[in-house]
Amino acid sequence: MNEPLLTVSGLTVRYGGVVALDDVSLRVPKGAIVGLIGPNGAGKTTMVDALTGFARYTGEVRFAGTRLDGLPAHRRAARGLARTFQSAGIFDDLTVEENILIGERSAARRFSTLRAIFGGRTEKPRAQTRRIIDLLDLGGSLEVPAGELSEGHRKLVSVAQALAGGPQLVLFDEPAAGLDSTESAWLGRQLRAVSESGVTILLVDHDMELVTSVCDELVVLDFGKVIAAGPPRQVLDDPGVVAAYLGSVTTAGDA
Ligand SMILES: Nc1ncnc2c1ncn2[C@@H]1O[C@H](COP(=O)(O)OP(=O)(O)OP(=O)(O)O)[C@@H](O)[C@H]1O
Ligand SMILES: [Mg+2]
Repeated sequence: MNEPLLTVSGLTVRYGGVVALDDVSLRVPKGAIVGLIGPNGAGKTTMVDALTGFARYTGEVRFAGTRLDGLPAHRRAARGLARTFQSAGIFDDLTVEENILIGERSAARRFSTLRAIFGGRTEKPRAQTRRIIDLLDLGGSLEVPAGELSEGHRKLVSVAQALAGGPQLVLFDEPAAGLDSTESAWLGRQLRAVSESGVTILLVDHDMELVTSVCDELVVLDFGKVIAAGPPRQVLDDPGVVAAYLGSVTTAGDA
């Protein structure tokens, strides 16, 4: 496997008395898709928050050879670290195109872009952003206000928004939530295409079909600790993982 783009060592996050992440270490190889899975409340979103500068932590985070610890969210983003939010995190009153355009801009230019949009002045996405729009099949809904879309469709807009900034690493927090199984499989193929274009991905999702088909490696969190890591099939056969997690999501059809 390639050299790590992201190396996390001994990362701990506390919310008052709750230890949301407890001494977590993991690596994301350059060019890989790594899945971060685990039951509800395991600490997956907290990991995304900590890495992107939205949650305070102790421990060490190295990205592309340098330490990020102490840097605020916008400086981490400027270094090529992008994320999506579990709740989509897009502007409902703006169109799909406007939302994606905001993602194209650095934090410094985002405010002036928003002002221009609200002032009725529109800019057009760059060619690279057009490719992302086409890849995610959003071309037909560019003029639609994001608030009118289904939850799954809004998630796709947030995926496009994160990719529009040209990041090195994207952390996706449940991008398939709200998609049906056909749409989720389709999203998986698009994420592989994104990966093949040179973007490294950390994928948080509960959709086992998606993570096993798309990810090169899985890391499993349970109660804030890593309980398994490795190739998807090996990890999902791990009795500790089955006990902690899969038992709770196995459907009658899988039994
Ligand atoms: N802002 C916060 N303040 C206090 N506790 C929090 C906060 N955010 C998360 N927690 C707690 O930290 C733990 C980890 O939560 P987190 O949201 O990271 O889990 P998750 O793995 O993303 O779960 P899900 O699959 O439901 O999204 C939980 O016990 C949660 O209640
Ligand atoms: Mg979460």
